[in-house]
Amino acid sequence: METKQLIELAKEARKLSYSPYSNFAVGAVILTKDGKIFKGSNIENASYPLCMCAERNALYNAYMNGYKKEDLVSLTLVADTDTPCTPCGACRQVISELFPKNAPINMANMKGEVLTMTIEELLPLSFSGEDLK
Ligand code: THU
Repeated sequence: METKQLIELAKEARKLSYSPYSNFAVGAVILTKDGKIFKGSNIENASYPLCMCAERNALYNAYMNGYKKEDLVSLTLVADTDTPCTPCGACRQVISELFPKNAPINMANMKGEVLTMTIEELLPLSFSGEDLK
């Protein structure tokens, strides 16, 4: 599936954002090897630390439907930012454990600008389960 199409799907996911506190809506989609799309948007709460990002909701959505790291092809996210919206630090940590190391992460804005990088590039020298051994 083309990046442009994935961004359109992420924009659809973004419409489902519940973000009355920040008024900053984010949409994300995971594409799987068998062509399925799992959406996520950011869901906020009056107890601010409980807010959940779009990227994590999309990833957890895929896992909750039986998909694992090796089944995932790409992650695409979009928000109304000046430059392509990049995942927060917490999301990078979660992505580093649940998403393939060299798979594309397409970061976009509503103007159609896109930046594609891998999680290794976005979070070098990451802490992982290996460090706990
Ligand atoms: N947010 C995301 O969903 N993804 C990002 O990449 C950046 C931040 C959300 C969290 C919060 O609901 C709002 O955007 C403002 O930080």
